[in-house]
Amino acid sequence: MSLPDQMLGIEITNPGGPEVLRMATVAVPQVAPGEVLVQVAAAGVNRPDCLQRAGLYAPPPTASPLPGLEIAGVVVAVGEGTPRWQVGDRVVALTHGGGYAEFCAAHGTHCLPWPLGWSPAAAAGLPETCFTVEHNLFGRAQLTAHDTVLIHGGSSGIGATAIQLAGACGARVLTTVGSEEKRDFCLSLGADLAINYRTQDWFEAVMAATDKRGVTVILDMVAGPYVDKNLRALAPDGRYAMIAFLLGAKVEVNFGHVLSKRLTLTGSTLRPQSSAQKAAIARAVEAHIWPLIAAGAYRTPVFKTFPLAEAALAHTLMEASAHMGKIVLLT
Ligand SMILES: NC(=O)c1ccc[n+]([C@@H]2O[C@H](COP(=O)([O-])OP(=O)(O)OC[C@H]3O[C@@H](n4cnc5c(N)ncnc54)[C@H](OP(=O)(O)O)[C@@H]3O)[C@@H](O)[C@H]2O)c1
Repeated sequence: MSLPDQMLGIEITNPGGPEVLRMATVAVPQVAPGEVLVQVAAAGVNRPDCLQRAGLYAPPPTASPLPGLEIAGVVVAVGEGTPRWQVGDRVVALTHGGGYAEFCAAHGTHCLPWPLGWSPAAAAGLPETCFTVEHNLFGRAQLTAHDTVLIHGGSSGIGATAIQLAGACGARVLTTVGSEEKRDFCLSLGADLAINYRTQDWFEAVMAATDKRGVTVILDMVAGPYVDKNLRALAPDGRYAMIAFLLGAKVEVNFGHVLSKRLTLTGSTLRPQSSAQKAAIARAVEAHIWPLIAAGAYRTPVFKTFPLAEAALAHTLMEASAHMGKIVLLT
């Protein structure tokens, strides 16, 4: 196919609310060595896109200014030194940005095969959550079948992935949610216990469920007042992986728990990591999660899709936190 010079994409016109997202005609990205150009079929929506839109999460200087961190689509051009992919291959990709568009460039080593039989929306919802959970829960926090893990925000895109993967590895899975509907959703994904933090004290519920021993791993996106409670809810030698600070990054905590229980505190953000680090995570994701997908033991729960032109509505829905699982844009 001959490639156009121009395409439709969603621009952030100014930092602000969802209304600052506008469809615009922009240049089709050039393919650099090591990259592929993908004709986008679907693009996942993630909280970090909302933060970028609001001016709270600047894209790295080398990244596309358009939002969009994950896509599913068809390779339409291949840069030098990209041996794995050919024109016509169907891939999912963790992008450096620019997913909310008709075409998007991605590093070849950050692409994985589009799972057979998966819809565009389900496929596009894989990379960001799989890379994040693989790296934090299994890489940094070293989750194994012997662990009991507490996953905050269980109904989020990240939470839905973490529940399924932790369950598949044999760990006992506790999670927090903001409604009864979300509780049922998390149980349907395999959580052993889902605690509605609006009607129950989640700390008390966690301690009761573990005979006061606490959990051995926590994946936390909430932070703020949760941090001190998380330190108290961890068992000796527990590991605490932080991936976001929805309720704030600056808090007063008692670090005595870290010493007395020999806790490990860790965390990361995916986007600023080097291309080589993301390639290593991609290899881990393919080795660990793609077999689960092939065996039917992992799915992307797609809550709602929107046409690309309605990206603002997708962000409004995400920020209302009424969704369960993934929100996806279709091009
Ligand atoms: N570090 C990384 O590499 C990385 C990568 C991707 C995403 N993230 C972060 O991970 C989080 C989830 O991302 P996502 O794309 O999956 O977003 P999402 O689907 O919108 O999830 C956000 C979740 O946070 C929960 N939440 C919001 N306010 C809360 C509160 N006050 N107390 C407890 N829970 C609360 C919501 O659940 P309830 O309605 O049940 O409260 C919601 O499910 C975001 O904060 C995002 O920035 C980090």
